[in-house]
Amino acid sequence: MAKSEKLFLRALKGETLERPPIWLMRQAGRYLPEYLKTRAQSKNFLHFCYSPDLATEVTLQPLRRYNFDAAILFADILTIPDALGQKVEFIKGEGPKLEPIRNQEQLSKLSLDGIHDHLAPVYETVSRLSKEIPETTALIGFAGAPWTSATYMVEGQGSKTYEIIRSIAYTDPEFFQNLINMLIEATAGYLIKQIEAGAEAIQLFDSWAGVLPEDQFDRWVIAPNKEIVSRIKAAYPDIPVIGFPRGAGVLYKKFVIETGVDGVSIDQTVPLEWAARELQPLCTVQGNLDNLCVVAGGAEMEKQITKILDTMSNGPFIFNLGHGIVPQTPPEHVARMVEMVQSYKK
Ligand code: CP3
Repeated sequence: MAKSEKLFLRALKGETLERPPIWLMRQAGRYLPEYLKTRAQSKNFLHFCYSPDLATEVTLQPLRRYNFDAAILFADILTIPDALGQKVEFIKGEGPKLEPIRNQEQLSKLSLDGIHDHLAPVYETVSRLSKEIPETTALIGFAGAPWTSATYMVEGQGSKTYEIIRSIAYTDPEFFQNLINMLIEATAGYLIKQIEAGAEAIQLFDSWAGVLPEDQFDRWVIAPNKEIVSRIKAAYPDIPVIGFPRGAGVLYKKFVIETGVDGVSIDQTVPLEWAARELQPLCTVQGNLDNLCVVAGGAEMEKQITKILDTMSNGPFIFNLGHGIVPQTPPEHVARMVEMVQSYKK
């Protein structure tokens, strides 16, 4: 099938379609028994991400069950800090642990040299996927946006409040800007290599964008996303980019206007009518079913899916969740969701 005919890419070009395309953040993952089985072949999560055989296999697994309109490369946002030379580990049941970078001296130990050699297995996975995915399915490459990557790099782990990084951004903005600049460089290069290997669209995950006040949001979320979008566009003007400044509230609108993204992924707290009125005239909107509503399933899930479809289908739209699918999700609820979205006629 010609690239231009894939529903997911047509939606990102701004077309309003008969029914929206659907894919899910974290669609390859622990809610699928076949994922757990493949995952068990590798003790170390980063090694798993750097094994083209295994990463290709788990990317394809959800496509064998569901007719998703797009597949997202299987990797993680923490491949970038790892490639820069930071110590990164994933501890079972606890999530990521990193040796924190909190000042210029620690930052000076990281380096951009050789990152693409380190990340070559990820590019190999993209290249294999571009040959193996079904012809109606689009292939999405991704990375963490600089602010969100930096939260893990500075805090050393996930956080609920991000107090360390938010403080350092005020007290040592020079160091922090240097860190963000290094991440812009690494991330833009990483995404351009993914496109060279066959990625047809890009999503930039700024999962923790929602903790910042406006001025800081402008500097650490909007400016770096904008710079990465413009570097991608300079190299590949036809590759669409989706931004995801999760939790940004009313700042979603400014984010879309200033960064130049082709699409914006909205979390479940964004009111649908506001998104249809304020965001859809500016770009394609993606979202935003509450991931826990898919765990619940049944009549409530169906009601929420119908509401999203009815409110968002008069403009360019991609059906997705408000955040990644969670491990306790029953796979049959996903099947019902996909069936409802794909049989919808506006
Ligand atoms: O299917 C897909 O979406 C592709 C793969 C993908 C993963 N992580 C695999 C993964 C993608 C796109 C990501 C992005 C990612 N990683 C983000 C941004 C999106 C978001 O959810 O906000 C973030 C913040 C991370 C960092 C990360 N990776 C954390 C905090 C954790 C541990 C917590 C958790 O949810 O388990 C991971 C591990 C991880 N990345 C898993 C998967 C499938 C689970 C680990 C395992 O299987 O052992």
